Amino acid sequence: MVSDRADETTPFLAMEVFRRASERADAVHLEVGEPDFEPPGYVVDAAVDALRRGDTGYTAAAGKLGLREAIADYYDRTYGVDVSPERILVTPGSSPGLLLACLATLDPGDEAVLTDPHYACYPNFVRQTGATVRTVELDATEGFALRPDRFAAALERDPEVLLLNSPANPTGAVMDGDTLREVVELAETRGTTVVADEIYHGLDYDVEARSVLEFTDEAFVTDGFSKRYAMTGWRLGWVVVPESYADVVNRLVQNLFICAPSFVQEAGRVALEREDDHLDRVRETYRERRDLLVDAVADWGHGLDLGYTPGGAYYLLVDVSELGDAFDVADRLLDEAGVATTPGVDFGPAAADYLRLSYATSMDRLREADRRISVWLADV
Ligand SMILES: Cc1ncc(COP(=O)(O)O)c(C=O)c1O
Repeated sequence: MVSDRADETTPFLAMEVFRRASERADAVHLEVGEPDFEPPGYVVDAAVDALRRGDTGYTAAAGKLGLREAIADYYDRTYGVDVSPERILVTPGSSPGLLLACLATLDPGDEAVLTDPHYACYPNFVRQTGATVRTVELDATEGFALRPDRFAAALERDPEVLLLNSPANPTGAVMDGDTLREVVELAETRGTTVVADEIYHGLDYDVEARSVLEFTDEAFVTDGFSKRYAMTGWRLGWVVVPESYADVVNRLVQNLFICAPSFVQEAGRVALEREDDHLDRVRETYRERRDLLVDAVADWGHGLDLGYTPGGAYYLLVDVSELGDAFDVADRLLDEAGVATTPGVDFGPAAADYLRLSYATSMDRLREADRRISVWLADV
């Protein structure tokens, strides 16, 4: 018998759309959140060198000390916060970090609060612990901003966990420092543990993304190399935990994952230690793409008004309700225009009338998507 928890796990729709879109050689992929560039050459070299040296065994569960120190330095130089390497656990991608944070803080019957819209996988992480999900609806007319007062009612129920994501997938919304501080203080007064997914940090174009660790030492923070270093398939991330959780999370990693790949950890250390203009270039590239897509949407008409400017990550949500059901619109866009998009319902009921568009693709492909969608719209 399939367990209830396994059975209740929902599919990740964006990946399903990707599979279907991949059957069309000419499709423009606006459905996936996969960076289209390569990691810096010196990072690839570091991995290859480590492989050739035979750096392929298990490491300590928490990860190599050199990488954990490089991550601690990253927090110091980026946010001016002092994070001891003892609180940092290296994971195979940031997804295991999210699971570890949930496993370490939630019991069956507990409650975790998420925003709606939210990253599609969050409820499934929570469900694996037997806890339940409560959502706080964000308002499209406010650009899906995370307003502290929206969390107040949910936090009054003293949930065990509040999961935050800024810059956010799928909205692209970024919390400013004052808002983040206020939400963290609100959670702490209720004894709620904040879990912050900071995987899109560094991809902020207007307001600077601030780390939860600037405001508290008692939060869990997940981050990694997938997005800003374009290392999705390398599977390398980390979770920062409150000091009192370091031992228990270490035991969880020992049992569930053993460790992240050793030679990949070496590459991660080099990526962090080698200061160059990689991240600035990546940010500028995405900013340009964001501007192109935001302008394109503004010209599409047919009620496809964006109504906000996404300030980070590489996504935006477009309301397609005037064209019909979002699933049908996504199907038609793929079949008739060759443009793949993700129906918003993947990200919660508040996004059901929307399509998520990702601009993690080249300016040329974005221009082509704009051209195809404009032609398609002229006929609907
Ligand atoms: C908000 C968010 N968190 C986490 C992840 C997973 O990232 P990783 O590759 O580090 O597991 C993604 C991937 O798309 C994401 O969008």
